[in-house]
Amino acid sequence: MTLALYGGKPVRTRPWVSKFIGGEELGQEERERVLRVLAKKRIFRYLPEGLDESETAQLEREYAGFVGTKYALAVNSGTSALICALIGVGVGPGDEVLIPAYTWIATAGAVVAVGAVPVLCEIDDSLTIDPEDLAAKITPHTKAVIVVHMRGMSCDMERILAVARAHNLKVVEDVAQANGGSFQGRRLGSFGDAGCFSLQQSKVITTGEGGMLVTNSEEVWQRAVIYHDGAMYQFRFTERKIPAFAGQNYRLTELQAALSLGQIEKMPALIDKIRAVKRQALDVLQGQAGISFSPAFGSERDLGVSLVFYAKTTNQAAFLERAITAEGIPAQRIYDSQAHDQHVYVNWEFLMQKQDPWGGHFPWDQAFYKGSVEYRPDICPKTLDLLGRAVQIRLNQLITDEDLADLAAAVAKAVAAMPNEE
Ligand SMILES: Cc1ncc(COP(=O)(O)O)c(C=O)c1O
Repeated sequence: MTLALYGGKPVRTRPWVSKFIGGEELGQEERERVLRVLAKKRIFRYLPEGLDESETAQLEREYAGFVGTKYALAVNSGTSALICALIGVGVGPGDEVLIPAYTWIATAGAVVAVGAVPVLCEIDDSLTIDPEDLAAKITPHTKAVIVVHMRGMSCDMERILAVARAHNLKVVEDVAQANGGSFQGRRLGSFGDAGCFSLQQSKVITTGEGGMLVTNSEEVWQRAVIYHDGAMYQFRFTERKIPAFAGQNYRLTELQAALSLGQIEKMPALIDKIRAVKRQALDVLQGQAGISFSPAFGSERDLGVSLVFYAKTTNQAAFLERAITAEGIPAQRIYDSQAHDQHVYVNWEFLMQKQDPWGGHFPWDQAFYKGSVEYRPDICPKTLDLLGRAVQIRLNQLITDEDLADLAAAVAKAVAAMPNEE
């Protein structure tokens, strides 16, 4: 059969599934909740009347219950959740923070926003931070690590927590892409000193823009509360136990919180569906010669929100990307040196150049920073090798048996014509 890439008939002409998960579930439930907020004419959270019944307070209670932490703080994005978490755990000028070389650029940006220096660590084939490299990158200046549960894959929290405890590091979990995921039976976000979620539209559940911070520490929570709202409204209603410092405005609106309440209700069913879809997708692809999967894929560590497999060479991966896409199923090689995907460290221009917004190199060139860190495209070769061979296809909960059959056919057709090289 001639590949569609070379003019043959494509396996599929119907569009592939949408890239949204929770976004596809927006419906009556969310509409009614939002309309109720409009009818109440109370769209700012911190009005004294009925504070405890505010949509945002309810959402925080739901989240803390869902993740299994004592506290939750709703904020206006995943990025602001990360910034509040870093402030919450005490990261600041002079500190180094370990982050994976594969994550959304916001993880690195949040570190710089609090005056600290990001140090890049390799990932392993699970697509998450390599615990061995994490240990190797610790210096006397390391204060914390942000572990990122990437593409729905949980980090190896057992090994990471062992390293962090041995070196007295704070752990912040970036759960932006794995909301609802778990590791050894516990929800992600509940392992570290703080967990951060994004509710932006591409995430598992969404309110357009939004975020959530969870923690078991009252002190971390209070520090984050101060930072998320410069006027500390919340402490008009709650006892504050720590001194004041300047904060920002990262508050969530009642409309967004109401939307999220509708979405979080759907989470358990959504997670069951998407995990089942992922297992089926792996079943139809796992026998294919020439491509491989991490043992972590399809395991409990895998929430199932994306499908990734590895070719043996970058050339083969580049071919598969083009051939599968031409068959009607959008496929993407995760690292392509010609693309500028901001999930891969080589494309984080501000970091590579150590550039601040004022034409200088804050915080890297400041006297308070006693370490030294170099960023070059070749500093995480294992990450580039893995991502250059990784082909990604989006999945969502709405995939049907027919879609899976098309997936299997398109991949088989492309793999059969793949250049034969080692
Ligand atoms: C891994 C990761 N961290 C942080 C963020 C930032 O979230 P937000 O866009 O809500 O600020 C994102 C989302 O794009 C992400 O994917």
